[in-house]
Order: sequence, then C-alpha cells, then structure tokens
Amino acid sequence: MSKNLAILTYGCQMNKYDSERIVGILKGLDFQLTDDLRSADMIMLNTCSIREKAEQKVFSQLGRLKRLKEDNPDLIIGVGGCIAQIKGDKIFQRAPQVDLIFGTLNIDHLSSMVREVEKKRGRVIGIAKDFDPDIQPPLTFRESQVSAWVNIIQGCDNYCTYCVVPYTRGRERSRSSSIILDEIRGLADQGYKEVTLLGQNVNSYGKDKSDGIDFPQLLYMIEEIDGIKRIRFVTSHPKDISERLMYAMRDMNKVCEHLHLPLQSGSNRILNKMGRGYTSEEYLSKIDRLKSFIPEIVISTDIIVGFPGETDDDFNKTEEILKEVEYDTIFLFKYSPRPETLAGSLSNHVPPNIKEERFNNLLMIQKEISLKKNKALEGTSDEVLVEGHSKKDPGKLTSRTRSNKIVNFYSNRDMKGEIIEVKIIRGGLYSLDGEIIERGC
Ligand code: SAH
Ligand code: SF4
Ligand code: F3S
Repeated sequence: MSKNLAILTYGCQMNKYDSERIVGILKGLDFQLTDDLRSADMIMLNTCSIREKAEQKVFSQLGRLKRLKEDNPDLIIGVGGCIAQIKGDKIFQRAPQVDLIFGTLNIDHLSSMVREVEKKRGRVIGIAKDFDPDIQPPLTFRESQVSAWVNIIQGCDNYCTYCVVPYTRGRERSRSSSIILDEIRGLADQGYKEVTLLGQNVNSYGKDKSDGIDFPQLLYMIEEIDGIKRIRFVTSHPKDISERLMYAMRDMNKVCEHLHLPLQSGSNRILNKMGRGYTSEEYLSKIDRLKSFIPEIVISTDIIVGFPGETDDDFNKTEEILKEVEYDTIFLFKYSPRPETLAGSLSNHVPPNIKEERFNNLLMIQKEISLKKNKALEGTSDEVLVEGHSKKDPGKLTSRTRSNKIVNFYSNRDMKGEIIEVKIIRGGLYSLDGEIIERGC
C-alpha cells in the first residue's frame, strides 16, 4: 500500500532541485506526494540556514509537527538540507520529534536511511563530508514538465565572509560534461523546452576537471541539443564573469538575455570585508561591457544591508549603484550573522533599526525602478514560454519572457510548453499581464 509524503522546501533553487531528487527517491519506496500534512506518513523538511530567520522558520515548523506526531506516533519526520548538514545530531536534541537527519551530501543514501527508520522505529542520521556528484543516479521526478533544473557544479570555494554555503554544501565539484549533456538530451526527449543550469558559482564550472571544458564551452555544447529552446543559469559571481561568457551569451540563440549578478554592496570597503574579490568599479565595468554586447540584457542582483561596520557612507554607495544600474529585480537581505562564518564573529554590528531603515530605503527605490521598467513594456510584444496555469488565478496561464519576466494571460486552451507571442497590456511590480497575439491565416 502506498504511503503519503509531504515535503516542505526552504531556501534556494539548489534546495528545490534537491527536493525533486528526494521526492523521486521516495516515490521509488512507494510514497505518493501530498500537500496535506495531516494525511502524511512522512514529512520531510529540506532546510536552509542562509539567515537566522530561515533557521527559525524551520524550528517553528518542527514545533507544529510535534503536535501532529503526538496525534500520530507513526509519523516519520525527516530533516535534510543545509541546517541538517551543519547542525547534525544537535537537531535531535532541540527537536526530539525528528526521526531522520540527512545532510546535503547524503541524499543518494536516502532509500536505505528511510528503510532503516521504518524498520527500527528509531533515529537515523547521515552527514557525509564529501561525495562525488558524478555517481549520482539521474533525477526521476521533476515538478515542471516544461523547464528543468540541471545541477552543473556543487559546493562553493569562495568563502564570502558572511556566507554559510561553503559549510553546508562543501567544496566545489563540477559534474562531468558528458553526464550533464546526457541528462539534458534526456530532458529534450521528454519534451522539456528550457533548462536552468544550477551552481553557487556557475562560472567556476570545470576548474576542478582536466577535460578543458569551462562554463562558456559547456554552454556551446548545450546549445547544440535539439529540442531545448532556452538556456538559463544561476548564479554568476561578478569576479569570475569573463568576456568569453559575454561573447557566448551574445552569440548563442538559446541562452536567454538575463543575468543574475549579485552585487552585495556598493562600497569597496565593505566588498573587501565581505571577501568578494571585486570593486564596485570592476563590477560596473563588467555590466557596461555586458550591456554593450547585449543591449536588451535584463540584470537582477542580491544586496545585503547592514554588514558589520557598514556606515551611512557605505550604504549611500550601494544606493547610488542601485540607481545607476537600474536592475529589473533585486533580492534584498538584512545581514544576519552566521556562527560558522568569519563575519559571524565581528563585533561592530549595525543596529537592527538602522538595518531596517536601509532595507526599506532600498526597497522603495527599487519598487519605483521595477515598476517603471515593467510599465515601459506596455504595448510591446514578446516571446514567452508557457509554464502552466497561474497558481493565483487558474483561469490564466503563466509564462516567462526570455528576459525572465513573468507574463500572465487568459487562454481557453492549455498551451503548456508552447512558445508564443504575447502583447504586454499591463506592467505590474512583480509580473506583467499580457494577451495572446492572434496570428492571421
Ligand atoms: N551563490 C550565490 C547565492 C548565495 S545565497 C551567490 O554567490 O550569489 C543568496 C544570497 O543570500 C547571497 O547572494 C546574499 O545576498 C544573501 N546572503 C548570504 N548570506 C547572508 C547573510 N549571512 N545575511 C544576509 N544575507 C545573506
Ligand atoms: Fe556564499 Fe559567496 Fe559562495 Fe555565493 S559565492 S555561495 S555568497 S560563499
Ligand atoms: Fe539556503 Fe542552503 Fe541554498 S543555506 S540558500 S538552501 S545553499
């Protein structure tokens, strides 16, 4: 008899991708996915520890699950992901209702771990220090049938002083190009139209391999795969973005005109303390080069306010860059000390009210820019890939432009997976409304 599995995913795309792997593995053990926690036989939390708040969210969820487990003692609760990888068995101490803890590097052993929990009805933990991504079995479950995540490199060697990821994901390990290409060919055969290549720093791809295939070269090889119409990638580190990559983005038809290029701060003093390896001038000159190669490029970024020691003057520099670059989207964060990191032990913390003020200040500026840019698209037409029904309004379809803008529109036909032309009729803050452009016969 099949059992019910609920999975709660926190954090970044890498975790979403890992959750697909987890679901695929557990389907192999006769679990069926459910959204209803009450009817679940097993609840998995795929966790994130990038900021303190992300951790708090998980522990308060575990508090709620404790009550569920009291009602249903057979319920199995598993904790995977980044918190599991760094906290390990401390999670059992803080949340004794947890049955299974598995690290980011242990997902491939999940079947045997779950069987062990079921058999012995006791606690199981697996936290590996390293693993070889080339021996991973292929993913057997993906949420979307149109657009697929494909991991190309695991881990991160950058050790930005604020960031926990190198401790939760280990050292950089690229997957073999032949395995990546096989996976993408398989996706094309299944009808996928778009792939998003995933890595903490995709530009480092291949540095740990001896076959001479670097990231731009990998893109050229994926470009050749029939059936795949669009290629995206996240994340690029500004220090590693090369002219070769810019040429590749310009010259390849399938690589979309969108780049996520995290700035973090506009102040060189803070960038240096963050260990980012670039100055604001170098960052801006890369953006200028990129715009000269690909004028229609859409750029998004990540910004942290309130890094220890950030003064008004440092903050103003970030604000200036925001106004100068005019990003289409930004992801804004208040600095959160992570105990594992170098910056975590710094003492000159910015008071929470100042962080809040700086955060709101940038948010306001960005909202105006985003809205202005999206409004400017009203009346234009663009090519979109239809992803499926809109979650907010099931009468509408949701789609994406090559530049990564969401366009929702009415249709009485399910056009999932089709690439069509739409006219933008309204530009909102986070998405656009469109209408299908009817072609004459
Ligand atoms: N590998 C990517 C993404 C890392 S995590 C990159 O290098 O850009 C996503 C974002 O979270 C980071 O870009 C950063 O802006 C933010 N972040 C990371 N650690 C943080 C911390 N301790 N406090 C606040 N924001 C943080
Ligand atoms: Fe974290 Fe820096 Fe690595 Fe990104 S590049 S994951 S911010 S250490
Ligand atoms: Fe969070 Fe881990 Fe991603 S810490 S942001 S889920 S790599």
